[in-house]
Amino acid sequence: MFQAPLLDGIPRDIAAVADYAAYARRRLDDNAWAYLDGAAADELTRGWNRRAFDSLALLPRVMADVAGGHCRTTLFGRELPCPILLAPVAWQKLFHPDGELATAYVAAALGVGMVLSTLASCSIEEVAAAAGQGGDGPRWFQLYLQPERSLNEELIRRAEAAGYEAIVFTVDASLNGIRNREQRVGFQLPPGIEAVNLRRPQDPDDAEGFARRERSLAEKRQRRGPSNVFDDLMHCAPTWADLDWLLAKTRLPVIVKGVLHPDDAARAVDQGAAGIVVSNHGGRTLDTLPASLDALPAIAQRLGGRVPTLLDGGIQRGTDIFKAIALGASAVLIGRPYLHALAAAGPFGIAHVLRLLQDELEATMALCGVDRLDRISTDYLKDPSFRRTDA
Ligand code: FNR
Ligand code: LAC
Repeated sequence: MFQAPLLDGIPRDIAAVADYAAYARRRLDDNAWAYLDGAAADELTRGWNRRAFDSLALLPRVMADVAGGHCRTTLFGRELPCPILLAPVAWQKLFHPDGELATAYVAAALGVGMVLSTLASCSIEEVAAAAGQGGDGPRWFQLYLQPERSLNEELIRRAEAAGYEAIVFTVDASLNGIRNREQRVGFQLPPGIEAVNLRRPQDPDDAEGFARRERSLAEKRQRRGPSNVFDDLMHCAPTWADLDWLLAKTRLPVIVKGVLHPDDAARAVDQGAAGIVVSNHGGRTLDTLPASLDALPAIAQRLGGRVPTLLDGGIQRGTDIFKAIALGASAVLIGRPYLHALAAAGPFGIAHVLRLLQDELEATMALCGVDRLDRISTDYLKDPSFRRTDA
């Protein structure tokens, strides 16, 4: 799985987050790379995520007194050192032998938020224990609705018992969450890595057993018509009724991830969602979805600050985070940037990526003349269509 040693220091040519990708490529075999970064389609959306940030220029104000500024923020009652969280990502043992535990150590030590995937390769409880040793960053649990209702309830109970502070309900990947293995060219889950939290006590204690369980579930879904999609997988896909069900089942705040339309964002909040993640899944689901940054302003405007509105997709720079906040994001999540660093340099790499992004965000704020996140606004963007006031 790993074809080169972990870096034991930060190479001089890593000056920015994106520089980790080449190191991750060298360290990972083709299989793990196919999952992490392989193209499932033309990857237009992935490119648009970047282009949206790149095509937006900043408009700084000079000589503001920003001494003593900071980029701390509060989300769901928790103070965070910076508005950056680690996005839910499946099977992290593909990228580092310690998998999600490595991510949890760093998140805890730095007090940064981390979201654990339903498809994690380490258990909900192990990750909580690992985080407990390090310090105190909020941990959220990401739910992919499982065809068996009882399994969803069990996952929620376990997350609650282990101290996770929110449920992130991902609603945009009902096909690729299930069919990832077929979709990502050549990707096969290697022996010894599995979605351990989906294992039931009655399941055999090996990866083969898990595969058998998945096959039997597929049989249970039973094709009810000629369509591979509508008559099969869509019987397990989340619906608005499932959001109601989830809200009734947990006392934790529920954050809906994968929203791009303002009407959907408003409906989720009306039903009781405590937050929204504007996301196109990093461009991994349906290609030619819009850039998440382009979808953000209309959603933020519709929600009018009723709930925290997060964004992910394409964040690589402190300036990207500043722009997302200017357009209405409360905070951002990063996916591939921290996975590349995890693969290349382990927990140390993730810490470095967070440090780089925080430093860059603070530099952007300072050079734009803003000392606090809540003072970032469209006034600091050059494009007049985003400006609140035309100077
Ligand atoms: C993901 N993502 C994801 N999302 C989710 O809700 N549950 C999951 O298990 C996964 N798994 C996953 C695996 C891999 C390898 C990637 C790259 C992404 C999506 C993720 O949470 C996030 O939305 C995107 O990664 C954000 O885009 P960037 O930062 O990678 O551009
Ligand atoms: C992915 C799924 C697991 O993006 O969300 O790979």
